Order: sequence, then structure tokens, then C-alpha cells
Amino acid sequence: MKLTLKIWRQSGPEDKGAMKTYPVEGIDGDMSFLEMMDVLNEQLIEQGEEPVAFDHDCREGICGMCSMYINGQAHGPKRGVTTCQLHMRSFKDGDTIYIEPWRSKAFPVVKDLVVDRSSFDRIIQSGGFVSVNTSGNTIDANATPIEKENADKAFDAATCIGCGACVASCKNASAMLFVSAKVSQLSLLPQGDPERKSRALNMVNQMDEEGFGNCTNTGACSVECPKEISLENIARMNREFLKASVSKE
Ligand code: SF4
Ligand code: FES
Repeated sequence: MKLTLKIWRQSGPEDKGAMKTYPVEGIDGDMSFLEMMDVLNEQLIEQGEEPVAFDHDCREGICGMCSMYINGQAHGPKRGVTTCQLHMRSFKDGDTIYIEPWRSKAFPVVKDLVVDRSSFDRIIQSGGFVSVNTSGNTIDANATPIEKENADKAFDAATCIGCGACVASCKNASAMLFVSAKVSQLSLLPQGDPERKSRALNMVNQMDEEGFGNCTNTGACSVECPKEISLENIARMNREFLKASVSKE
């Protein structure tokens, strides 16, 4: 397969950045999108040019690092997959592919396609945890019975990989889907109960402090989410936040 890639190049946070065109050849349909980027980078290195910086780690859909906009869609044209799981058979010989970083004030560009998502880390630090008794009398988590329906909903929420596609695809750059997945995962389980109120308050406050926009129920976040996190979580987080606001711990 021969392709034309139009890629956002930006040498650093202060650089204005621009789209640059790169032809690439010898792409197999069974290659992942990131392997195609590897082929391009090998070609650029051979030509003495600067390779394209992009984030990746697990390459199996679980770490959330491979965040990029492909032809105007977060993680590309397929639903429910990350960029690392997107295969080149989803494209045709001769295609032109536009590749850009996430665009949001709270995710500043570090270089090329790499953005700084430490705002997500600070939101997690503000409340995305449970307190555990480490005195030696720790209760095995599996010894606590949990209603099947809640266990399933908590598990679904826990599949959020923190990639930020929800923010990138939202016209308001809202982080509500991400934060609500984390709040829901813990609020649905008895282990999350001790910090339930402070978690909802602190995580929502931190989200606002980081400069993410508000939710206007457009739903693009859930459509573009590679883990298909449901909008139900946003409704649950709003209820948790409201309850916590009227009855502080
Ligand atoms: S909710 Fe979906 S899109 Fe947002 S960070 Fe989690 S996995 Fe990524
Ligand atoms: S590289 Fe880990 S999810 Fe894609």
C-alpha cells in the first residue's frame, strides 16, 4: 500500500506547528497504525530527518497512550478500538491520511503528536483511590459480596484507559466522561464507600481547576471512546456530586 500522510509537526510547546506531507510505501494491511508510523519514522531517520514524536506503550489497547486524531476522529475510523489496535486494512491504497494531536487547553502539545495529559493524573490523585487497612488484618476483596449488576457496571467503568479521546472529541473539551468513569467505578463498590463524598467533590473540583470545559450532553465523547464508556456514568457522577454537596462528610 502507498499512502500520503499529512502530519502535524510541532517542535515544542512554543512552536506554532504546521501540517507536513510525507509519502510512505510498503504498508501491509495487517500492520497496526503505529507500525505504519514506525515505517515512516525509519524512512525519516534514513533520510536524516527528525522522526515524528508520538506516544505509545502497551500496543494492546490497555495503556491509553497512543492518542492521536486520524482523519478527524479520535483513534481513527473504527469504533471501540485504540490507535494501536487499528489496522491498515481499514485504509485503501492511495489514501491520504491526516494525523493530528489531541487539541485541548488542558492537554498542551509537548511535541508533534505528543500531548501532556498530566491533568488526568492530578484528577486521579485528588480522589481516584480507596483507603485500605494495611495493619495485617486486610480483608480479601473477594470476601465482600457485591450485587452482580453493580459489579458489572463498576467493571465497565473500570475499562476506561485514560486516553483522553473523550476530551479531544468534545466541542467543550470536557473531561466528564473520564472523571465519571473513575467516580462510578469506585462509588458502585463497597470498597469505595469511605471516601465517596470527598471523592466526587475533589475530582470534579480538580477537573474544573485543570481548565476542562463543561458537559452539554452532545455525546461525542462516548461515541469516540475506544472503551465505549457509557454516558450513564456522567449522570451517576452528577448525582454523586449533588448528594455530596448537600451533605458534606
Ligand atoms: S472515557 Fe473513554 S475516551 Fe475518555 S479517557 Fe476513558 S477510555 Fe479514553
Ligand atoms: S499503546 Fe497502549 S492503548 Fe495503544
